[in-house]
Amino acid sequence: MTNLAIAANGLRKSYGDKVVLDGVDLAVPEGTIFSLLGPNGAGKTTAVKIFSTLISADAGVIHVGGHDLATDPQAVRAAIGVTGQFSAVDGLITGEENMLLMADLHHLSRREGRRTAAELLERFDLTEAAKKPASTYSGGMKRRLDIAMTLVGSPRIIFLDEPTTGLDPRSRHNMWQIIRELVSDGVTVFLTTQYLEEADELADRIAVLDDGKIAAEGTAEELKRLIPGGHVRLRFADPAAYQSAVLALREVTRDDEALALQLPSDGSQRELRSILDWLDSAGIEADELTVHTPDLDDVFFALTGGGDVPDQSKETVR
Ligand SMILES: Nc1ncnc2c1ncn2[C@@H]1O[C@H](COP(=O)(O)OP(=O)(O)OP(=O)(O)O)[C@@H](O)[C@H]1O
Ligand SMILES: [Mg+2]
Repeated sequence: MTNLAIAANGLRKSYGDKVVLDGVDLAVPEGTIFSLLGPNGAGKTTAVKIFSTLISADAGVIHVGGHDLATDPQAVRAAIGVTGQFSAVDGLITGEENMLLMADLHHLSRREGRRTAAELLERFDLTEAAKKPASTYSGGMKRRLDIAMTLVGSPRIIFLDEPTTGLDPRSRHNMWQIIRELVSDGVTVFLTTQYLEEADELADRIAVLDDGKIAAEGTAEELKRLIPGGHVRLRFADPAAYQSAVLALREVTRDDEALALQLPSDGSQRELRSILDWLDSAGIEADELTVHTPDLDDVFFALTGGGDVPDQSKETVR
């Protein structure tokens, strides 16, 4: 267990007869960012609550920070910090008072508590607002305060349940920066998110939770390779050029209305070159060539909910 911050085997949890987690295995190496994705109600928050000892699992062997969750929850608690999906900030008191409250919970001395609070408020750009009631903070400021509060005990493993939901793009990017800095200090981050772009941007590894099970796990690149959908799209301005390309290429998907053709492709340089060579030798010159590699949205739709794979409409805007 030495180099795993979180290890779960056969994790199960039901509420009544509703099975939420149906045998989940996860391994999160120390000092990495792991992202758990899944549709609403998939069980992400449930998993975070179990790993952070807030609720207990029905079955499974789980180690967090090298400690067995079942036999040593106290040691787990000492190693972790949790920022819940819903803010833990008390709006009636100031940002600083919220921080001092956390310092108290961690049994820091008054002096140490004040020092830590001041440091973290500074780091999260909240010094100016520190003496104002937290209810007056913007969503982004509250979220930053939330995370600052989580860091009071210097946890080595941090659980962030949808840390950027509701934040504007700039605040989201700031939060990403904060998360990256945490990891560069050696902290492990377990993150749930609704934003696939966020997982793509931040996570070393991603697991997709669906129907109580891990539907897929890997790096963003590995997950994207799991599903088909990569292709090269050729668009023609001239209907005659389009028609001759159709005749020359045959094995392609046609879009007669847009005068566009799609060729399956993994998007690699080698394959693109051979496609280009082939087009050249066939004397085909498209007016526009775009490469579509599947993104995490495609993966998400393909893997979760047994639902509909999205249509290709988004490509027409490219
Ligand atoms: N205390 C509870 N009692 C009964 N059912 C619960 C309880 N907590 C969660 N559930 C159910 O467990 C399932 C998973 O909930 P959970 O909050 O873990 O999902 P989630 O993946 O975090 O969803 P979201 O993306 O909406 O935050 C849901 O069907 C939910 O209704
Ligand atoms: Mg949740």
